[in-house]
Amino acid sequence: MNKTITVIKGDGIGPEIVSQAMRVLDAVAELYGHAFTYQEISAGGNAIDQYGVPLPEESLQKCLDCDSVLLGAVGGPKWDGVEPARRPEKALLAIRKAMGLYANLRPAKLFSQLSDASPLKPSIVAEGIDFLVVRELIGGIYFGARRTETVDGKTVANDEMTYGEDEIRRIAHVAFQTAQKRRRSVISVDKANVLDTSRLWRRVMEEVASEYPDVMLSHMLVDNCAMQIVKKPSQFDVIVTENMFGDILSDEASMITGSIGMIPSSSLGEGTRGLYEPIHGSAPDIAGKNLANPIGTILSAAMMLKYSFDMEKESAAIEAAVEAALNDGLRTPDCMSEGMSLLGCKEMGDAIIEHLKNQK
Ligand code: IPM
Ligand code: MG
Repeated sequence: MNKTITVIKGDGIGPEIVSQAMRVLDAVAELYGHAFTYQEISAGGNAIDQYGVPLPEESLQKCLDCDSVLLGAVGGPKWDGVEPARRPEKALLAIRKAMGLYANLRPAKLFSQLSDASPLKPSIVAEGIDFLVVRELIGGIYFGARRTETVDGKTVANDEMTYGEDEIRRIAHVAFQTAQKRRRSVISVDKANVLDTSRLWRRVMEEVASEYPDVMLSHMLVDNCAMQIVKKPSQFDVIVTENMFGDILSDEASMITGSIGMIPSSSLGEGTRGLYEPIHGSAPDIAGKNLANPIGTILSAAMMLKYSFDMEKESAAIEAAVEAALNDGLRTPDCMSEGMSLLGCKEMGDAIIEHLKNQK
């Protein structure tokens, strides 16, 4: 197969981790007889530096005109002073919105090799951590009206949170269909004791659930969910939640698996074209030092192969190669523990590629 991938290396550690994922994709192409063509675009802080805007029109066009997008990370303290409308993060939000990517899937799966790196007690970890956060990605407070004004001589800021029933319904279907391929349990997370948007969310979830009698639906308040994730993570299979709750809970979920550096994500809309990115940020403190963990990005590339390109076996081969590298005791600094071998970002890429070749 021939696929065109738009690549956004982005800021901070973005270029290093994406380079490793591209090398892995190249190895897959060679081993399995595919061709991946990359079109690299500028977005985020580096685009602000170069073009004065976080997402030049041409960059956005290339996201719309490709088979899928692979992204590293955008942002960093260098651009903290930039006016809100031009912040690096705006690029990411604009791409998600323009591509219509309403469903963001973030797996929180503990690699057994990394049990020691989890901050949770071994007895909790032993029960297993394998769930998926389905985050609504282009609605809610992230995309509501925003204003800062002066009222009676005082500054007042406003961020509006809005959800329509259709927006909730489509993400509900994604959650239930995903659960059908897993352990058939959906926990919908909201703040229905306070928010109207959450009360609507709950009603629509119930309604859609009736179309999936084989899936169990329950509801959990977001504050309780934050607690349950560290108390008994084994109770979760699929969590479905709105944009901001999903942002927060998915960081928490990733941390208990040992390292946020390991977690990939996919964002999809109606078609097969998606955006794939690790869930971590640009980590400017370690950028350019060959210290970053490329696995989250490499596993994001694996998700791209599976969900957008229908390349199941190639995707599974990447996952197996990652597992094999971990089995060899290879670790980047973020998940290093006693007795393991410390590697740099590039060397971790090398090791994973080596395993890919050996599997063939
Ligand atoms: C994420 C990030 C983004 C978000 C930021 C960079 C805008 O935290 O993908 O989770 O909040 O969605
Ligand atoms: Mg986040």
